Amino acid sequence: MSLRDRLNEASEVVAVREAPPGVAVSRAGKDAIKRNLHYLLIEEMGTELATTTNEDVLRRSLERKLQELLGKESTPLSAADRREIATDVMDNILGYGPIQALLEDPEVTEVMVNNPSTVYIERRGKIHLTDRRFIDEAHLLRIIDKIVAQVGRRIDEASPMVDARLPDGSRVNAVIHPLAINGPMLTVRKFSSEPYTIDDLIGFGTVDERLAAFIEASVKGKLNILISGGTGTGKTTLLNVVSAYVPDDERIVTIEDAAELRLGQSHVLRLEARPPNIEGKGQVTIRDLVRNSLRMRPDRIVVGEVRGAEALDMLQAMNTGHEGSLSTIHANSPRDSLSRLETMVLMSGFDLPVRAVREQVSSALNMVIQLARLRDGSRRVVQVTEVDGMEGDKIVMQDVFYYDYSMGVDDSGVSLGRLKSTGLRPKFMEHLQDFGIQVPASVFAFEPPARR
Ligand SMILES: Nc1ncnc2c1ncn2[C@@H]1O[C@H](COP(=O)(O)OP(=O)(O)OP(=O)(O)O)[C@@H](O)[C@H]1O
Ligand SMILES: [Mg+2]
Repeated sequence: MSLRDRLNEASEVVAVREAPPGVAVSRAGKDAIKRNLHYLLIEEMGTELATTTNEDVLRRSLERKLQELLGKESTPLSAADRREIATDVMDNILGYGPIQALLEDPEVTEVMVNNPSTVYIERRGKIHLTDRRFIDEAHLLRIIDKIVAQVGRRIDEASPMVDARLPDGSRVNAVIHPLAINGPMLTVRKFSSEPYTIDDLIGFGTVDERLAAFIEASVKGKLNILISGGTGTGKTTLLNVVSAYVPDDERIVTIEDAAELRLGQSHVLRLEARPPNIEGKGQVTIRDLVRNSLRMRPDRIVVGEVRGAEALDMLQAMNTGHEGSLSTIHANSPRDSLSRLETMVLMSGFDLPVRAVREQVSSALNMVIQLARLRDGSRRVVQVTEVDGMEGDKIVMQDVFYYDYSMGVDDSGVSLGRLKSTGLRPKFMEHLQDFGIQVPASVFAFEPPARR
């Protein structure tokens, strides 16, 4: 029996379950029609799909065929149903399928496909299950293939895990069999087409104007700053915004796993690490790039995220004349971020005593900015901490600003807290003064928590 016969048989099942005239066809019914049309189109246009390179020509001929097939559909469909079915079937074949609309929706910041029939999104910082579904596993795989191929990468059993970027800058991660046990998985991290600015972050409540001014002074004054936070707390976004304060006459080298940073300065040299090819060759690590960047006469080095052996090279760069370097790290508190750095250095294969590593860390870094995603879904800076040398075996850290959680939440659960000053004036202010940068003393006036 040909596929066509099988489908005709299947659509008869749908026709039997069809809604009586005047009653809208059920969701399951529509899904079944979409599925049938999808298979039919692929069967009938298979070679054309594979060989036509001109998207417009392909779209027109697909549309013609689709209308023809829809015309033969026995289930009574309203004009709206027809439109919906036609759009979805076209998206499934030409675009990114059921997630096309989600990718286009500016309010959606993340699309997470757990399996063909489970698609989650993040909207305003919160995760929701959607009613979008892929036709089957092969369909999801085809969409993944398409996304990955578009950026010149491949995914198959030999390399079943891929990180890539869409043309609009969104970051894509896909994992397939045999690593993905329950079928292919896809995660798309969207970035707004215009990168966020400091004003956006002030609008979101991530930073306030005082902190913005303080960060600006710190970047202009060439402090080495680490942005710390959990997954998806907005580290890369804040790094991008903070980097914008680097004066335009400085030469900036950015180093990333997947190039996400978008800086506006004129002197920006962007480097992107490269995974090994299928034979396991040709890998260029973040560490290689950090080392290489030192030969590029940079004024500033911006590393997208430190997560491995590059930690030591970065600390050394910061300690040897590349002040004003910036990076992010995955950690839950400023203290945690330093111990993670320490671990990275110790694990990178150098036989260095812990104390020596700690000294490197403490003398390289000036400040840690901690981000968190609060229960209300907002992403906020919750701690700004100065790194202030060593005392005995310990790195001394002093909070400059803290988030006052004790201010509670409003009726809808939105945090009423804000960033407050601990009353400590950071020691690096003297360093800033050398650059002629003044921060008014009032910025550091103690603000007690609402409740103790
Ligand atoms: N301050 C913010 N307010 C609201 N949304 C934000 C904020 N910062 C970032 N976002 C959004 O949150 C998502 C995650 O941001 P980002 O990639 O910067 O986080 P991250 O901490 O670097 O994530 P990862 O741990 O995966 O590297 C993006 O969709 C981004 O647009
Ligand atoms: Mg990031």
